Amino acid sequence: MTMENDADRLAAADPTGWFDRLYQEAAAGRAVVPWDAPGPSGGLDSAGLPPGDGRRALVVGCGLGRDAEFVAGLGYATTAFDISPTAVRDARARHAGSEVTYQVADLLSPPAAWSSSFDLVVESNTVQALPRTLRPAATAAVASFVAPGGTLVVLAAAVDTPSGQGPPWPLTRDEALAFATGGVRLITLDRLPADRFDGRWRGLFTR
Ligand SMILES: C[S@@+](CC[C@H](N)C(=O)[O-])C[C@H]1O[C@@H](n2cnc3c(N)ncnc32)[C@H](O)[C@@H]1O
Repeated sequence: MTMENDADRLAAADPTGWFDRLYQEAAAGRAVVPWDAPGPSGGLDSAGLPPGDGRRALVVGCGLGRDAEFVAGLGYATTAFDISPTAVRDARARHAGSEVTYQVADLLSPPAAWSSSFDLVVESNTVQALPRTLRPAATAAVASFVAPGGTLVVLAAAVDTPSGQGPPWPLTRDEALAFATGGVRLITLDRLPADRFDGRWRGLFTR
């Protein structure tokens, strides 16, 4: 069984519930989490983020915490959330002693207090893991977290011509640009080289 097949199989009928089942199966040694890689997401460490100096950061769909720990290491007071209780449990365990606040939350129904509240928001590979029908709501929710003057980093697989097959469902240029919504505006959109798909978007936005 390939790594992708673990995800494909579990994603078939349940667009958000399959994540927790995958983390549970991985914890039991019966599956592999395809994105469980050492180090931060590709393109995050080279994004030129300034020191946090205690400002607030939010990491969307944090999984097992690789990006949250990187952001906290820059000096941000970091909250990281995931819809999967198992991922949150395992992130806490993996990074025992971490200053990151890991919590369970749903991007599609986030806490109201998070609106316009974070100086840095990092979204890597979460929106692309949701079916395109959920994409507009997920994209708008990510943008909503950015505080005035704050920075949003979006990292996602790129595609020129979308296919129906997924997960993931890589983002077209227009879908990457769509994070500029609700008062959030684009700074730069780069296409980074990548082994899969048509490269990888790195978008920087601000409000
Ligand atoms: C492809 S993984 C990427 C994880 C992490 N960002 C990384 O790059 O290592 C997508 C993550 O988003 C989480 N997720 C999916 N839907 C979500 C939602 N509606 N709210 C919060 N997290 C969600 C999944 O549980 C999973 O951990």
